[in-house]
Amino acid sequence: MPGMTPPSSPMQLSLHTGHDGKGISHTSTSGSSLTPPVTPIGKESSERIVTPFSEPSEEHSTRLFKRNITTPLHFTDELEPCLDERGRRVEFGEGVWSKVYKARSIPTTTPATLLNTPPSSPVNASRVVAVKAPRRGDAGPILKTEALILTRLALTPGHENHIVPFHGFHAETQSLVMAAVPLALSTYIEEAANRVRNQPIATATMFDPFLGPAPWKDLARKLITSLGWLHHTAGIMHGDVKPHSILLRPIEVAEGPDNNSNNGLNAFRYEPLLADFSAAIDVSPDPASEGNGSKMLSSFTAPFSAPEVLKSLRPDSGNPPPGPASDVFSLAATLLAAATGDVLLYPGCDFRRRNLMAGEGHQILDFIRSFGNGARVPRNGFVERLVRPAVVKDPAQRITAIEWVGLAEERSYTRSNGVEGP
Ligand SMILES: Nc1ncnc2c1ncn2[C@@H]1O[C@H](COP(=O)(O)OP(=O)(O)O)[C@@H](O)[C@H]1O
Ligand SMILES: [Mg+2]
Repeated sequence: MPGMTPPSSPMQLSLHTGHDGKGISHTSTSGSSLTPPVTPIGKESSERIVTPFSEPSEEHSTRLFKRNITTPLHFTDELEPCLDERGRRVEFGEGVWSKVYKARSIPTTTPATLLNTPPSSPVNASRVVAVKAPRRGDAGPILKTEALILTRLALTPGHENHIVPFHGFHAETQSLVMAAVPLALSTYIEEAANRVRNQPIATATMFDPFLGPAPWKDLARKLITSLGWLHHTAGIMHGDVKPHSILLRPIEVAEGPDNNSNNGLNAFRYEPLLADFSAAIDVSPDPASEGNGSKMLSSFTAPFSAPEVLKSLRPDSGNPPPGPASDVFSLAATLLAAATGDVLLYPGCDFRRRNLMAGEGHQILDFIRSFGNGARVPRNGFVERLVRPAVVKDPAQRITAIEWVGLAEERSYTRSNGVEGP
């Protein structure tokens, strides 16, 4: 594919805020094909310590889908980048490792079923896809590892409802090919917050999540369910949960008078899908699948990282690498961003201060309340009731994703928002 070759010189690795809000990246150490560490941040453990997988119940451990994947699903169709009127590739977004382009995929072989198709039938099977291509020299192995994780996830029952559809790894360009889902939760939050900002303050709704109470609860339940599936069915830890790693697929609403379902005011109008598995780790307790993933996070984002993630990166910390409980924290932080409308949680804070607060992340609810939109997370309101057990300081004491699914489905947590009014 023309113009899709990765840059040959690695970019400077240092503290920076990427397009997707990502703070710090470092290269994974495990996996034979991975490059050695290239950043002075954090001491990377050469031991393969796996933080114990938080005990799933009998029912869920039997549902865990175990698979040892050594080669990724290959994408063999042709890719043709979509160009804008000035001849530049159309970009969906970029992250710390990659740029994601819009492209058309064109089948290289005519499927047998099409050979007998009469000429009048449409045979143009090209489709629009998203191509995640490396944007720096050391990203190739990261994307290859991500392709293995995505292959495993795509083989795990239920994946359609939880992750961005994966079409395969395009070896020639070291790129991942996925369904195009061009709206990230981060963009949605930013755009919706801008609209709300320009409206007069409504006292009736000033203590509600800015998405609206019912859509927020709906989004929360769906995302928590997806995290439960990821940890307990697929045995994978995401490693970089944040609003930028969640893509929104519109829910088709059937037109017509019979349509009085909860697709109106009560539901979030999108299916949230987990994306960006570049920092994902195999946390399956199945020894057969050891070695599928790296044991250190390849990147993380400070305002959304659990406090233990930051601690584990300190030189000589001696702390084990983070486990699935860190995802639970990150999703709680993501849900707080979706409640306040502040996509990076602490508006107006510089990078250093945000990092300091992230190190004390268990106080996140108090921190949030010290900012203007913190009123949208009232004390003991339903947002706090759902989030509190997920931001507990000790990862071992934190609610597990599967317990959290139970809480998100309980009606009692949604009772009232605990506020009498202004
Ligand atoms: N399947 C997709 N369809 C459309 N846009 C996407 C898709 N996957 C990623 N993007 C966009 O590209 C950005 C970077 O992708 P991401 O997977 O986060 O890369 P990185 O691993 O480099 O952080 C995302 O924040 C999102 O905006
Ligand atoms: Mg990303």
